[in-house]
Amino acid sequence: MTNDKKKIIIGNWKMNLNMQDASLYLQRLSELIKIRRDVEVILAPTTLTLQSLSLQVNLRQFKLASQNFYWRDHGSYTGEVSATQLRGIVQYGLVGHSERRHIFCESDKDICNKVAAAIRNHIRPVLCIGETAWERSNGETYDILQDQLIGGLANITSDELSQVVIAYEPVWAVGTGQNALPTYVSAAAKAIRGQIEHLYGSAAAKSIQVLYGGSVTIDSAADYLSLPELDGLLIGGASLNAHSFSEIIKKAHKGSSTGEKD
Ligand code: PGA
Repeated sequence: MTNDKKKIIIGNWKMNLNMQDASLYLQRLSELIKIRRDVEVILAPTTLTLQSLSLQVNLRQFKLASQNFYWRDHGSYTGEVSATQLRGIVQYGLVGHSERRHIFCESDKDICNKVAAAIRNHIRPVLCIGETAWERSNGETYDILQDQLIGGLANITSDELSQVVIAYEPVWAVGTGQNALPTYVSAAAKAIRGQIEHLYGSAAAKSIQVLYGGSVTIDSAADYLSLPELDGLLIGGASLNAHSFSEIIKKAHKGSSTGEKD
């Protein structure tokens, strides 16, 4: 269904790696990975290291993402960094990651404002959605996905939707070592596309890129990457080591014959 689209592999470093570690990592990863047109590799380091990595990175090889940003463009918001300030430094921005929703109490309203701020500033938002263990055990998974999609995409037009990436990240799977089974992820990705179809039509549902994230490892990556409903992965823990991350990226290339270049 979606095999002709570019795969996306995102490494979310969370609050790990200082400036020197980040620079060494980038150098190491660039030695391990060839540039290919069929996979977009995106690194999401801490905000602190984004500016210096943006000077070091070869954008033909990797793109950068912010893990978070504030939705207003500027003003008296102590401690915040805006999408306007990140413009030109990052190409993508994570929005509504479960750690932001649940540890920092971000609401759907914040998230919808951030999606709009990203688009306004030419940053592609990666909207993260997913149910908690409690919601799952209550059979609410699809209702939660629907609510978070409607909430996060409120005020986003069909044209703007082409900039949005959706990451399905069940909260119970993120950072727990308990990854969701591929069949479960496949059903959730179908439900996400069904909701996008309802909101924006069937062409949008086919073309939107849907990723999975939650305790993906080198061993489990290929099973997700072979799902026709999925366009890639959002990796936390397994992205912290350049070698393991490069192995996952190579699995995304596998089977593709397009565009290898050094
Ligand atoms: P994890 O994190 O791979 O460590 O579960 C995923 C994420 O934060 O998106």
